[in-house]
Amino acid sequence: MAKPSSRFVCQQCGAVTTRWVGKCESCGEWNAIIEEIPRDEVPKGLSGKSGRKIEFFGLEGTARPLPRMLTGIAELDRVCGGGLVAGSALLVGGDPGIGKSTLLLQAAAGLSAEAGVAYISGEEAVDQVRMRAARLGLAKAKVALAAATSLRDIVASLDGGDARVVVIDSIQTVYADTIDSAPGTVGQVRACAAELIRLAKRRGFVLFLVGHVTKEGMIAGPRVLEHMVDTVLYFEGDRGHQFRILRAVKNRFGATDEIGVFEMTDRGLAEVANPSALFLAERRGNVSGSCVYAGLEGTRPMLVEIQALVAPSTLASPRRAVVGWDSARLSMVLAVLDARCGLALSGNDVYLNVAGGLRVTEPAADLAVAAALVSSASDVPVPADMVVFGEVGLSGEVRAVAQADNRLKEAAKLGFAQAMVPASLRKAKTPAGGPLAIRSVGHVQDVVGLFRRGP
Ligand code: TYD
Ligand code: MG
Repeated sequence: MAKPSSRFVCQQCGAVTTRWVGKCESCGEWNAIIEEIPRDEVPKGLSGKSGRKIEFFGLEGTARPLPRMLTGIAELDRVCGGGLVAGSALLVGGDPGIGKSTLLLQAAAGLSAEAGVAYISGEEAVDQVRMRAARLGLAKAKVALAAATSLRDIVASLDGGDARVVVIDSIQTVYADTIDSAPGTVGQVRACAAELIRLAKRRGFVLFLVGHVTKEGMIAGPRVLEHMVDTVLYFEGDRGHQFRILRAVKNRFGATDEIGVFEMTDRGLAEVANPSALFLAERRGNVSGSCVYAGLEGTRPMLVEIQALVAPSTLASPRRAVVGWDSARLSMVLAVLDARCGLALSGNDVYLNVAGGLRVTEPAADLAVAAALVSSASDVPVPADMVVFGEVGLSGEVRAVAQADNRLKEAAKLGFAQAMVPASLRKAKTPAGGPLAIRSVGHVQDVVGLFRRGP
């Protein structure tokens, strides 16, 4: 028999090469390729004669609504699509130290009132997890806790047990002794996850896999598992802020792009039921360059403050610094302001910041960014009681955006009195006789006009 030849696998994207290279050709990551000895991937001798015939079904039929288990953490349940589905596998990804273990320990404790929960930690000793539980005030919860990393041991224990929810923290620490590579490599992570997911489907328990997002390539990131699990949740946030955002990027049992907002406190993660109020908490009214954007995250309207600072530059190529928004999008808005409205900011440094550490990805924020920029450049404040939303096109036209009524409702709820919205938004869509005065704009030029200094 030929000796199994080794192969080289990128730990970021899973691409396979036949020799070691410094930079992965498929994802461009440096130093992410390591050597692995593969197992036989295609079992030999499968001719199709010995297989059983599989059964095919029609598309129509009665499907009962899936029973769901609730963690008691409303934000988490909502992001999961209304609770956890038995037999499903969830991947919780995020940077180290962002709060994954904390969240899952809290969820485990919440679930343990109703179902058997096993929490298997490969990163921390039992005492460390106990200390965290005590700090969170959850020491009394009936969670079965273990520190283990051997897949063989974990599977053996779970197969006979009565756990209905299992947390593996983290998948990168688990190893299968049948595979030659080190724990945390793509081969190990994939094989261990596949085995655990198979077990979860067979025994019908909910499986949470924690996956660290890694900057260096030596440990496989959670990306390599995304296609294997039912639900992918990313826990994001800025270490400097206490907000944490749980985002569903894939969900076979619910909507994606749904987010849950948490606040890291000294007693663990607290749910934030009204994120708009939180994101606007530190806003100071009537300063130029600040504009409240009525955004949408998933199904949920969310108001955030967009801050711009336009300052004369001494540099040959002025600075463009963006936090929480897309810098290409900023360049576009600046170009539109320049070409279509004659507002040239090319000699200025431009800083843009989404306050509170949120990342805004919607194009609907264009108009709010434009308003903040114009306001900063002209030093005329945007009215403090005004929200803004609308997409800006390349010819400067302001385009309609989705779910305008939800955005307006949220703004009214938080006491705003005016809204700057796209003109193409039909009157019928805006709540008639609502408390908001609607100011429609059809072109960015109208925005520039509004903030022109003096009468
Ligand atoms: P952790 O859940 O260990 O992160 P992860 O599992 O994603 O690596 O969270 C670690 C951070 O959270 C740590 O910096 C301390 C902080 N923290 C609090 O601020 N309050 C708390 O109650 C807990 C348990 C942790
Ligand atoms: Mg952890």
